[in-house]
Amino acid sequence: MNTPSPTPRHFLSLLDLSSEELKRLIQRATELKAMQRDGHVHEPLKNRTLAMVFEKSSTRTRVSFETGMTQLGGHALFLSPRDTQLGRGEPLEDSARVLSRMVDAIMIRTFEHEKVETFARYSKVPVINALTDLLHPCQLLADMQTWFEHRGDIRGRTVAWIGDGNNMCHSYINAARRFDFRLRIACPEGYDPNPTILTPAADRCEIIRDPMIAAEGADLIVTDVWASMGQEEEQARREKAFAGYQVDDALMARAEPDALFMHCLPAHRGEEVAASVIDRPDSVVWDEAENRLHSQKALLEFLLSSS
Ligand code: CP
Ligand code: NVA
Repeated sequence: MNTPSPTPRHFLSLLDLSSEELKRLIQRATELKAMQRDGHVHEPLKNRTLAMVFEKSSTRTRVSFETGMTQLGGHALFLSPRDTQLGRGEPLEDSARVLSRMVDAIMIRTFEHEKVETFARYSKVPVINALTDLLHPCQLLADMQTWFEHRGDIRGRTVAWIGDGNNMCHSYINAARRFDFRLRIACPEGYDPNPTILTPAADRCEIIRDPMIAAEGADLIVTDVWASMGQEEEQARREKAFAGYQVDDALMARAEPDALFMHCLPAHRGEEVAASVIDRPDSVVWDEAENRLHSQKALLEFLLSSS
C-alpha cells in the first residue's frame, strides 16, 4: 500500500475532472448508495488511510469522509491544527511531504485556496479540497448526484443561485461548465462572484440582481449562508446587504412548478431561507447531505484506484 504514482490526481476544483469523469463518478455514487442500502460489503480501500486536515469547523464533511473510509474498508485520521505542528507554523510544504509519505490521500478544509494548491504541489498522494474560501467542489458532487437522482440529466436546465457570490456559488459556476446548465446568479452589488471564476463561464452564467427575476422559470433554486466561515464579524453588515434575498415561498412560486430547492447546510432559517422552504416537499436538502457520503466514496475510489 501507499505506492502512489509520481503525479497523483487531485480534486481541488470540479475543473480537475472532465465532464465524462464527473458524470461517471455520480453514477458510481448512486451505485455505491444502493450497495450500501442492500448491505453489500465493498472494501476496496482496505489498509488505506485518509488524513483529514480541518482548519475550519465541519459536521457533514468530517462525518461523511470518515464514515466513507470505514465503509470502503480503510481508515480516516482527523487532524486539527490545534493538535498538530501545522498549527505551530510547520510549513505546508513540509507537512505535505511528510503526511503523503504515510497516508494514501489527504483531505483539507482551510481558508486560502492557495494553501490546498501548495499542499497538492508537494504531496505524493491525491489531495482533496474539502472547502476553501474560493471553492467547495465536494458539495457539488453531492448536489449533482441529488439532482440526477430526482430529475435525470441537468444539461440545458436553468439553476438560480440566490445570495452571496461565495465558495458555493463559484462551485456552481464550475458545475455549469462541466454539466452544461445555465446559471443565474442573484446577488447584491459588492457580493459578486470572483471574475476569475465567472469570466470563463460567461457563456452560460449571468448576474441578475433581482432574485425574483432570477428565479423565474428556474428548475433548481439554491442558496447558502450570507456570512461564510471566517466572515463572522461581517454578519450584521451582510444581513443588511442581503435583505430581500431570502428564498421564501413567494420566490419558490416564481420557479418551475417541479423546481427543487437545495442548500449545502448548515442553514440559517429566517435569514437566507425561510423555515417553510426547508420543509417543503420539493426541498432535497437531506438527500443532498446524505449524498456527501456516497459521492465522496465514489471520489475516494476514483482517486485511490488511479494512484
Ligand atoms: N455542507 C458542508 O460542507 O457542511 P459541513 O460544514 O458541516 O461540513
Ligand atoms: N459558504 C459556506 C459553506 C459552508 C458549508 C462557508 O464557507 O462557510
